[in-house]
Amino acid sequence: MIQTLRGTRDILPEDTPVWQRVEAVARDVLHRYGFREIRTPIIEKTELFARGVGEGTDIVHKEMYTFGNRSDESITLRPEATASVVRAYVQHRMYADKAPGEVTRLYYVGPMFRRERPQAGRYRQFYQIGAEVLGTSDDPLIEAEVIEMLEWLLKQLGITDTELIINSVGDPKLRGPYLEKLRGAIAKDLGGLCPDCHQRYETNPLRVFDCKVEGCQPIIARLPTIAESLDEASLAHFDEFKRHLEARDIPFKVNPRMVRGLDYYTRTAFEITGGRLGAQNTLVGGGRYDGLSETLGGPPTKGFGFAFGLDRMVLSLPEAETALAREADRPDIYLVHLGESSRGHAIGIARAMRAAGTAVTFDFFERKMKKAMAMASQSGARYALIVGEDEVAQGRYGLKNLATGEQQTLTLNEIIKFTKDFSYHNARSSGQD
Ligand code: HAM
Repeated sequence: MIQTLRGTRDILPEDTPVWQRVEAVARDVLHRYGFREIRTPIIEKTELFARGVGEGTDIVHKEMYTFGNRSDESITLRPEATASVVRAYVQHRMYADKAPGEVTRLYYVGPMFRRERPQAGRYRQFYQIGAEVLGTSDDPLIEAEVIEMLEWLLKQLGITDTELIINSVGDPKLRGPYLEKLRGAIAKDLGGLCPDCHQRYETNPLRVFDCKVEGCQPIIARLPTIAESLDEASLAHFDEFKRHLEARDIPFKVNPRMVRGLDYYTRTAFEITGGRLGAQNTLVGGGRYDGLSETLGGPPTKGFGFAFGLDRMVLSLPEAETALAREADRPDIYLVHLGESSRGHAIGIARAMRAAGTAVTFDFFERKMKKAMAMASQSGARYALIVGEDEVAQGRYGLKNLATGEQQTLTLNEIIKFTKDFSYHNARSSGQD
């Protein structure tokens, strides 16, 4: 039997309502903060990520799914979407005709691909919801508003056990002296570090902080941090960012060793970790990436954004939220017809009810009453509607509450009116909160 590839999985109908719930809440929150959706291709030129994310990162160095095109062009399944969004921003000249300080707010939802070692919360095809703020302004207010939005999103989803961790990785153009100092410190302990760290030491010593190898950690803990070598402007930016968080009563922790595993970050970097997750406990990752546009051949642009793992968000949802999402997905009515002659009538009833906004599952098969009721219960529907020959003759139908067993006899109009009151779909179309 052919099965899914390692690190990939099917998301089955029992679980999709939970995913849809997270997506719906995220879209709603993003919309309220002025973000609009962008959909970029899942395949891009390899060069985009090599230049954008950085050759020296684990992602580009060993985790990308890259293959050749017929025209000898190298193509990669996107490992992340910030580079793609910046490419689109430049390609479509979204920066043109903007007022001073005006920003473009974009968000995306979709699958990403990284050839990582699969484990709980870490997949080779995973899903992200991310947002980017692009423009000429690097005001820390932008950063604080994005984080405020994330805090609210988490609250809406009932995820409370989280921690915001922030750092500043400074200005890459002014990092030279620090990198020298870091390289010197690494050199002293090089013998104790893993082969990957040896390579990082050569190509980009900052990446040593991304190392997850247990044996490297005591050495990494002794290395000088970038926070101690920040230039004055980055320091002032970081202070202002922290003040904006405090003004919003958003608690945070500074971790001077958190540099994030992508090369494009400048100044503010952040993560939100979740208590319910195991080893893979980073729910959200993001930061500022001024200059990424220039790296990709675009005009000078400031950028700030984040992405969260949808897989991890779903895993972190409290039981009550998960149950609510599944509950909302249940069909309203399971419609059974008894007797050949009532089938045509039942088809018409189903159509009228759906037009009125009710979710109706139609049983195509003719069954005995007892079996039909068992099927109705199994379907997860709230009510069974019974259309038999007598019912058709009288124009009144049996509506059975499948939880209590209570049954009432109603006309089609009465049933439609009744289902309007309990139908989840009606509730949803009239607004959620
Ligand atoms: P990232 O930290 O690589 O950042 O990924 C963001 C989030 O995606 C992680 O915190 C995690 O929740 C989820 N994630 C990453 N890899 C996996 C995986 N293998 N399995 C499951 N979930 C995963 C970025 O991708 C940046 N583009 C974020 C960003 C946007 N920075 C600025 N703008």
